[in-house]
Amino acid sequence: MIKKEGNNVQPSVNELKEWRNVMLLHRFALEEVNTKLKILNEEFQFIHDYNPMEHIKSRVKSFESIGAKLEKKGLDITPENAREHVHDIAGIRISCSFVSDIFKIQEMLESQSDLKILRVKDYVNQPKPSGYRSLHLLCEVPIFLTNRSERMVVEIQIRTVAMDFWASLEHKIYYKYQHEAPKHLTDELKEAALIVRQLDDKMRNLNEEINRYKNEQDQ
Ligand code: GTP
Ligand code: MG
Repeated sequence: MIKKEGNNVQPSVNELKEWRNVMLLHRFALEEVNTKLKILNEEFQFIHDYNPMEHIKSRVKSFESIGAKLEKKGLDITPENAREHVHDIAGIRISCSFVSDIFKIQEMLESQSDLKILRVKDYVNQPKPSGYRSLHLLCEVPIFLTNRSERMVVEIQIRTVAMDFWASLEHKIYYKYQHEAPKHLTDELKEAALIVRQLDDKMRNLNEEINRYKNEQDQ
């Protein structure tokens, strides 16, 4: 366990090595899942002539954020606790054009035989009280190492570009006001979330009309 001496955090050499190992394994897990996503996106493009994934971003959570999360949960800051209790050390965010893409991507991931979906949180159909919308998949993926394989947990968040725009701004405000934003701002954010929903609906209708037109032209 990391000991605090005054304000200094002093991990032992062994513990540092264990932390580095945790970070490395999660980076490998990200690379595995990123490769899967890239293949799915490219093959989908090849068949349907269109990309369900507009942007893919991934990151390994910083040591500081892992520590803060464990502290918030009242747990000791150890590599074991991190692996057991922090499920978003490896995180991927996919943004797409249309709401239907979100569920297409979910289906494609669910049909990968070596990827196990541990948990689904559907904030697209059941938004959070803040107005936040996104589909969260907690996945388990095997990584193959020199002398063993390990199953690693990766959190995948899938949302439309419009939902992503909203979530980035809300996150910024949330942090700026240290989780206590004035009511008029949270009210306006909720209103903005409704507008995002309307925009996503409108874009779907427009896209459907364009597709109908294209199909008629092709006949
Ligand atoms: P945490 O990961 O500790 O938040 O716990 P949880 O298991 O309750 O996770 P949940 O699936 O609800 O959310 C995980 C992640 O989704 C967060 O780390 C954020 O990236 C994102 N998220 C969830 N709620 C909100 C929200 O209201 N606003 C924004 N901007 N992002 C959110
Ligand atoms: Mg998180």
